[in-house]
Amino acid sequence: MISPGVLRPRWTIRYVLSAVALSYFAICLLFDMPFFSSPLPQYTGEYNVGTIDIEVPVEKRNLSSAVFKDTGKPAFELETVLFSLFYPATKDAQSSKPNHLWFPKPIALQAEGYARLAGINNFFTNSLFTVGLWTLAGSTSIPAEPDVLMHGTVKTYQNYEAEHPIDDYGLPEFPVIVFSHGFASSRTDYSQYCGELASRGYVVAAIEHRDGSGPGSVVKRSDGSSTNRFLINANELDPTPATPELKVWQLAFRQAEIEETVRVLRQINDGIGNDLFNVNTRKEGKDLAEWRGRLNFERVVIGGHSYGATGAMQVLKGGHTYERPFVGAVILDPGKSSGPLNDDIRVPTLIIHSDSWSKKHSIFYGRPHFDVVRDIARKILDENKIFAWFVTSKGTTHPSVTDAPLIEPLLLSWTTGSTIDVKEGIYQYVKATVDLMEYLNDGHRRGILSEEVTHPEYDNDIRNEERKASMPKDIDKYWQIHVAPSTGCAFPGLCGVDHDHAARPPFK
Ligand SMILES: *[C@@H]1O[C@H](CO)[C@@H](O)[C@H](O)[C@H]1NC(C)=O
Repeated sequence: MISPGVLRPRWTIRYVLSAVALSYFAICLLFDMPFFSSPLPQYTGEYNVGTIDIEVPVEKRNLSSAVFKDTGKPAFELETVLFSLFYPATKDAQSSKPNHLWFPKPIALQAEGYARLAGINNFFTNSLFTVGLWTLAGSTSIPAEPDVLMHGTVKTYQNYEAEHPIDDYGLPEFPVIVFSHGFASSRTDYSQYCGELASRGYVVAAIEHRDGSGPGSVVKRSDGSSTNRFLINANELDPTPATPELKVWQLAFRQAEIEETVRVLRQINDGIGNDLFNVNTRKEGKDLAEWRGRLNFERVVIGGHSYGATGAMQVLKGGHTYERPFVGAVILDPGKSSGPLNDDIRVPTLIIHSDSWSKKHSIFYGRPHFDVVRDIARKILDENKIFAWFVTSKGTTHPSVTDAPLIEPLLLSWTTGSTIDVKEGIYQYVKATVDLMEYLNDGHRRGILSEEVTHPEYDNDIRNEERKASMPKDIDKYWQIHVAPSTGCAFPGLCGVDHDHAARPPFK
């Protein structure tokens, strides 16, 4: 969730803070007092939310020939794909299983990962981290019901299924969002954003990447064996890559995981969820067979944050394919240090910058990063004639869309300078994402997507008093709009931009 460039300077502050906080936590522990980490709030949309973890084997392949120097084992061998599904669940669904922990066990693994991130890895600091992480977030759980039925499931249809085509069900189909996390992050780090979207009628697959950019993740194979994957430093590898090369490998690995996630979702939609349940090493998804025909494969959208946004832009290169059937994209804080950004994008795209991402001037391949991102949005709009938006969410910082500020509100506002109310911050991201999903559904522009440009450059407000006064208060308060399609066209289709984008893939 935090890019390396952002993390390092802040490292000492966080380190000192956690060390100081430890004594406080020890006292809390001793006297059984609550810590100042907050529980994650309930989702606010109309649907109950379910969650299922899926880890299944994929066709094994190496995305790079590099091996670890110490073990000689391949560093980028893809064996399984892991993601958490967040989905609309049946009303009043209550799981018999305990809620998923925000910090999946074992915590010591992530602790070692974060310690490696900081370039230190010895027994003492690892234990310090374990205690620190556990006290901060160890008991925090995700308020979605594990492994409950999807909304609208009618179990009596089970026998009906054999004789009737999928369409006969008449059950709702949900659009799908595949979400890719940032550097030093994991599949649970955006649970509030994903869960809120699920509560509004979307199925979100939050991937956990094992590309060596996360603090720690366990690869669980069907034979019961497992491997811990940590953050990879280039000097652990043979051949030792230059940083750009390492990023190329990691992005290739991430792309493969995104494609495998789509493949698994397609299988679920095709009705073989039960077979997947049987090989799911996370042992969830007992009712996945009921998901037959319930995913809207004409509305699959790719989303990502930071490194994940860079990866999401990469997979859009060349337009949609069977493996990458994305008809839209939500790009959050595309990376400043995760490699070049692909500008060949041919689907409706919403790029959201946090305030700090836009505000902080940084040079990206010889140009201001802000300008590079703005020009990509303009290119989609002007050259490809497809709707694109580039906006800044006011008062937010890079981690605002993650769960971190909800769990550690004080720590995060101290260390990152976020000024927006933490819940409001995530809510605004969710609302904008829903605006894009609805636009993809009916071509109608709502919310921030219905506005014209307000700030062609960051903080350069070009609105006159009249326009300021007529703008919806929430949009004025929370957004700057840098690139947006013109709203002035009375004749859709004749104004240079294809209003009837109807970006339906030509395949089922
Ligand atoms: C990946 O590379 C390693 C080491 O070079 C090799 O042992 C392994 O068989 C390769 N895996 C696949 C699936 O090709």
